[in-house]
Amino acid sequence: MLYLDNSATTAVLPEVMNKMMIYLSQEYGNPSGKYYRLAENAKKAVEEARRYVAELLNANEREIIFTSGATESNNMILKGVADYYSTRGKHIITSKAEHKAILDVCKFLETKGFEITYLDVDQYGRVSPKELEKAIRNDTILVSIIWGNNELGSLNDIESLSNICKTHNVFFHTDATQVLGKIPIDLKKYDGISFLSCSAHKLHGPKGIGAAFIRSDEFGELIPITPLLHGGGQENGIRSGTYAVHNIVGFGEAARIGKENLSKNISHLQALEEKLILLLKKNFGNKIAFNSDSKNKIPGIINVRFIGLHNEILLKKLAPYIAASSGSACSSTEPSHVLKAIGLDLKQIRESVRFSLSPYNALEDLDIFNEL
Ligand SMILES: Cc1ncc(COP(=O)(O)O)c(C=O)c1O
Repeated sequence: MLYLDNSATTAVLPEVMNKMMIYLSQEYGNPSGKYYRLAENAKKAVEEARRYVAELLNANEREIIFTSGATESNNMILKGVADYYSTRGKHIITSKAEHKAILDVCKFLETKGFEITYLDVDQYGRVSPKELEKAIRNDTILVSIIWGNNELGSLNDIESLSNICKTHNVFFHTDATQVLGKIPIDLKKYDGISFLSCSAHKLHGPKGIGAAFIRSDEFGELIPITPLLHGGGQENGIRSGTYAVHNIVGFGEAARIGKENLSKNISHLQALEEKLILLLKKNFGNKIAFNSDSKNKIPGIINVRFIGLHNEILLKKLAPYIAASSGSACSSTEPSHVLKAIGLDLKQIRESVRFSLSPYNALEDLDIFNEL
């Protein structure tokens, strides 16, 4: 079976797993412990992992806060900013093509008296910088726009969007879960980004671990927000809870490997994507239509309509040979809100399938598409 659902999750790399095993067996100390070697070793491992994640993002180490994943990072930042800055304003801007881990947090904040503007997106799911600028008001405290769309692969113009927010003195958050290890990310250059969310399991790391980037000022002080979890005061009091050292180490290793191979992986994903598109066109001709843009996108994510076929029936038939999905792994029963936002009707949404590739796929793996 060929696994082409890497936007849902990825296989843990053997190097990652081997390193994790050490911290599940002999090095089981709690990094918050003192004086003894097991604690010191665990602490060193956590800090090394933090450095690797920071290097992948070109951020400062202190700006990386480990969380349980992108869902938690999104919750922490949106709720944390909303609570801390509610006296400044109660208006938040996002888009209609965000992941549910943003949209459902926004729905929750609406019940707490916040007003949310959901920006329209273009035919590929992108937000217009002009529309964003028009939507900013005096009481806007936060803008949250996804960097790379999880269903379509389209990249937003994060540089322009974040610069607009910087000019207007509004915090800018981006959900970068799908772009980590797939495009270069330079948070020193994109200094309009105040916050970012990411996750290890889309990067051949383990599930249940992610990070929030919170920008620091010239004195090293992070932008203050209200913590989501209170308790032992770990992560500078921003995210309490005993460190999941094995998971953190796994994330660090996946980030290190992801950075080391970034340009090679991007080129390979582009080659895989080109081949897959050619094979789909050759074997299905005018029975398919592409929902994804061909440029300005995360390499390796393709969303395609099989005209006249129901995606769930197709995916079930394909399942013994190819694992793909109808979009976001989190909402497979509902028709995709992202495809709706780009203007597809229900029939077209039901025809749509997402193939998401991994840099660890071989070009020859795709020849299976000649046998369908
Ligand atoms: C864009 C995006 N944001 C958030 C998430 C949730 O990430 P996690 O599984 O780490 O909570 C996902 C995963 O599906 C995603 O694709």
